[in-house]
Amino acid sequence: MPDKRLIFATQAVSFMNDKSINGFSKRSKAEKINWLTETFLNGDQESANLLRVYWHEDEQRQKRHDEFIENALTNFFLPFAVAPNFKINGEFHAIPMVIEESSVVAAASNAAKFWAARGGFQARIISRTKSGQIHLNYSGESAVLNDFFEQHKQQLKQSIGPLSKGMEARGGGLVSLELVDQTAQLDDYYYIDAKFETADAMGANYINSCLETMAATLKSLASNFSGFVPETATPEVVMSILSNYVPECLVEVKVTCPVSELAQEGLSGSEFANKFVRAVEIAHANPLRGVTHNKGIMNGVDAVVLATGNDFRAIEAGIHAFASRSGQYCSLSTAKITQDEFEFSMQLPLALGTVGGLTKLHPMAGVSLSILQNPSAEQLMMIVACAGLAQNFAAVRSLITTGIQKGHMKMHLLNLLSQYGATESTKSLAIEHFKTQPISARNVAEYVVKHQQDA
Ligand code: MEV
Repeated sequence: MPDKRLIFATQAVSFMNDKSINGFSKRSKAEKINWLTETFLNGDQESANLLRVYWHEDEQRQKRHDEFIENALTNFFLPFAVAPNFKINGEFHAIPMVIEESSVVAAASNAAKFWAARGGFQARIISRTKSGQIHLNYSGESAVLNDFFEQHKQQLKQSIGPLSKGMEARGGGLVSLELVDQTAQLDDYYYIDAKFETADAMGANYINSCLETMAATLKSLASNFSGFVPETATPEVVMSILSNYVPECLVEVKVTCPVSELAQEGLSGSEFANKFVRAVEIAHANPLRGVTHNKGIMNGVDAVVLATGNDFRAIEAGIHAFASRSGQYCSLSTAKITQDEFEFSMQLPLALGTVGGLTKLHPMAGVSLSILQNPSAEQLMMIVACAGLAQNFAAVRSLITTGIQKGHMKMHLLNLLSQYGATESTKSLAIEHFKTQPISARNVAEYVVKHQQDA
């Protein structure tokens, strides 16, 4: 017989540990913050106040942000910067970037200026097709499913007519519909591959709505198709969703110059070019380096994707899958020297939009697009890819010359000086002092205290 006191004590402890809540989403923002403060912040009012301090003073603006997601409590600031001097296909751009990492914007601006003096970036769109899939279970004869699909393909296409009207008017729409047999990879697995053009929209909502509509049409057509043996061999829709793998939504960017124009940091042009090419080859050959090399590219890509209100998770997922398309994760960029001409280039899958979604809802995304002169989706793809290539060039250049820490530590020093409350005059003196002294949090803190005491 269990001891009743023990049962009661166990229940009491589990009650005290129960930090779950019902109906959280229905509470007001203030109530949510109070609950969180009491339940997870040990009543810490400083954290609770910070959550409120970051509310926008204009209630309407704040409401707009609150409505983006569920259970919004406050805003999370990231710096918004601009990297000027990007010459792309002969036109100058100042590229908005949202990123928390120091040195990235400086590196992009620096690389942009370097290449502007050497003809700038050349960019072109290879294709802009995206796809979505209706994933099916089907255990019957593959020839029967094939017959069904071919006989009803037109009806499937027609079923999205009303959804596609606007998109077609803008030059987009469904491009093709194919049944793919994947039973060699997974028992009973087929999918319908739908390819789309989505004009200036990223198109996720449009594609998903089309897929779900076609899936419902397929279900009803299949239930009336006499070729399928009921119960055992009727196609079943498992799910319908767009793919973030977009190898056919591709942009290419490159920079070129005579090798002799690359001399820098004590290296001749040809020494620099050869070392650079070798560094990129290493990123192709070794995923340990390839991942970090591509992370440098994503520093530029993500920052512009975020600034323009696009979906950086989709972009990240698609790009890294593309980097693995050969079966091994590789560098996204390529460098070569042909007859004394250095070329650094990259193809990047980028499903971006300049209309719809957050691009119009987030006021700062609107400002970014205005700074970029209201680009089309194709133009934005080229701009984002250039930011990535510039970033990659700057990172590899540092790595093969001065090393990456020199620039980083300079920015780190400025951050530490601000953190320890250095005045402007202390900052100027500290920058000189730390040119020859090791930068560490402790050294900087001591320097600030000592200097501001003496002053
Ligand atoms: C740091 O954010 C990015 C780098 O590591 C990229 C690279 O190594 O090429 C510097």
